[in-house]
Amino acid sequence: MIIEKKDSFRLDDAMVPAQLRPLMEEFQDFVLLRNTYHAAIREVSTKLEILDDEFQVRYDYNPIHHMECRLKSPKSLFEKLERKGLDIDLDSIYKITDMAGIRVICNYIDDVYAVATLLLQQDDIKLLRRSDYIKEPKESGYRSLHLVVEIPVFLSDKTEHVPVEIQIRTIAMDTWASLEHELKYKRAGGITSAMEKELIDCADAMAEVDRRMELIHKEL
Ligand code: GTP
Ligand code: MG
Repeated sequence: MIIEKKDSFRLDDAMVPAQLRPLMEEFQDFVLLRNTYHAAIREVSTKLEILDDEFQVRYDYNPIHHMECRLKSPKSLFEKLERKGLDIDLDSIYKITDMAGIRVICNYIDDVYAVATLLLQQDDIKLLRRSDYIKEPKESGYRSLHLVVEIPVFLSDKTEHVPVEIQIRTIAMDTWASLEHELKYKRAGGITSAMEKELIDCADAMAEVDRRMELIHKEL
């Protein structure tokens, strides 16, 4: 869950000098937009929690091990806009589909697909993109099921349709992705091709463990 101080930003005529108004208004729009993405994260994560709770009651089993939510920081947002050659303005932000991100860590591979199916069958969730990096792992060895969904957020004067990126993976996939990310960022010059190959081997080994653990789980 995101622990973040509530943003508060009121434009008061008497207090804002005229020449600063356009800038302040733009800034307020940005703060409002972040607030809307934050709301979208809460909506989707609540849906996932409700599904997990229902499984607990019905089957005495939780498909979700844990979740991590994050709102893209202004720093990494600006870095991404620059990387993609987009202007730094609100319209560009709408083109970034991972402003709101949720990572769902499941016990078994079957749970990954079950969680995705149950979420996508809900009426107010619209699927924008699905990338199955479990069936087709990335060259790096990375595995996860990625969904970009759109969810309505009801505000006082309008309804915003907000994209949320959901990465669903097993504990083993998450362990690999976290360590690989840490290793890649630790070395300034990047990792060597021998290390890359070793990481792919590790990813394959983790996938094998996932398959074997799932078989034991199914036998039970
Ligand atoms: P971006 O523009 O970088 O978001 O790429 P994209 O839109 O093609 O998204 P993609 O489906 O590649 O997923 C991007 C996200 O997945 C990243 O922000 C990471 O969280 C995760 N990811 C993708 N590839 C890797 C990888 O090789 N290693 C790790 N650790 N994470 C990865
Ligand atoms: Mg992305």
